[in-house]
Amino acid sequence: MLVNGIPRRTVWIEPDGNSIGVIDQRKLPFHLDTLVLRTTADACHAIREMIVRGAGCIGATAGFGMFLAALECAEDGLEGREFDVALAEKGAQLCSTRPTAVNLAWAVERQREAIATVASAEGKVALARELAQTIADEDADFCRRIGQHGLNIIRDLFYQKGGNSPVNILTHCNAGWLAFVDFGSATAPIYAAHDEGIPVHVWVDETRPRNQGARLTTWELGQHGVPNTVIVDNAGGHLMQQGLVDLVITGTDRTTYTGDVANKIGTYLKALAANDNGIPFYVALPSSSFDWETEDGCAGIPIEQRCGSEVSVISGSHGSASPGAGHLATGEVEVNLVAKGTAVANYAFDVTPARLVTGLITERGVCAARESAIRDLFPEMRRGR
Ligand code: MRU
Repeated sequence: MLVNGIPRRTVWIEPDGNSIGVIDQRKLPFHLDTLVLRTTADACHAIREMIVRGAGCIGATAGFGMFLAALECAEDGLEGREFDVALAEKGAQLCSTRPTAVNLAWAVERQREAIATVASAEGKVALARELAQTIADEDADFCRRIGQHGLNIIRDLFYQKGGNSPVNILTHCNAGWLAFVDFGSATAPIYAAHDEGIPVHVWVDETRPRNQGARLTTWELGQHGVPNTVIVDNAGGHLMQQGLVDLVITGTDRTTYTGDVANKIGTYLKALAANDNGIPFYVALPSSSFDWETEDGCAGIPIEQRCGSEVSVISGSHGSASPGAGHLATGEVEVNLVAKGTAVANYAFDVTPARLVTGLITERGVCAARESAIRDLFPEMRRGR
């Protein structure tokens, strides 16, 4: 997608061919910084510290992380089974960084299985590099397709509304291109509609505690010229009651084969409110975000609990980013929100049961959040894949 008019991705192979570039998402929207990852440890750090975040971007970074891991195994002079065992250990390190987004383990496992089929260390490294790029390219392509399928939903709503007023879409967190390699999941249909000339307006939940909506989604929508308004997380229900929301689209970090959706904390409340107000609630995901093992999302999906300081401390720019104020952001500051010693809990995700989900927008089309419908779209997927 565009940044200052220039197409960008979130993660890429650097020109030296042996290191990985990423956008440092912690700095946005105030600074567009990039970082270079040279080791498996660098990739683990980037995922754990949310330098990169979002299901697809985590998966792609893990895919590239396995390439860095393969390089390290080769540099250590490992061959054959020794290489594969050491690589699996490095893969386990990558997997331990964040538990909820299933794309992470999916990418690591895909790399591990493929690399084990090649005999020479040199061949393993070459395959790891190629497969990492394939995983990234597929992620971008699947998100682009999600955009085309989701566009039909937005277009239909536009004409149902009379064809002369914007479609108001509420989204939670950042399931935009920053959360993937390109295009995004929840935002892909929005970009597609905007590009087709269908007027859209996006209500962006700020998404406490890390404010991915306020900081990231607004920034990337703005870069593409999509009208959007940030709201506090608790505003969605009111807006829905007032008829100001036509559609909700969120992403997901993991969706069970039965249609239960794990996504950023607060998504469940939006689904309840949408259900109460008869507003369609869609979830957009590439197939890499399906969990083909877990039946009951509420019982079976591990919910990451992050450091309490994300709740008790807030950060932002102390300058004004508004040109009208005469000066640009000069840096970030942290501010305590609660008294020292206050107990805080930081659940990062929740699970929206399938019964509250109108449909799933995938790269193969839109289906009901129901096992039979999901399997109709992905007949080749079996438990354990
Ligand atoms: O904790 P994060 O920022 O990695 O959370 C993941 C998300 O960005 C959201 O839950 C998103 O809506 C789904 S990931 C495409």
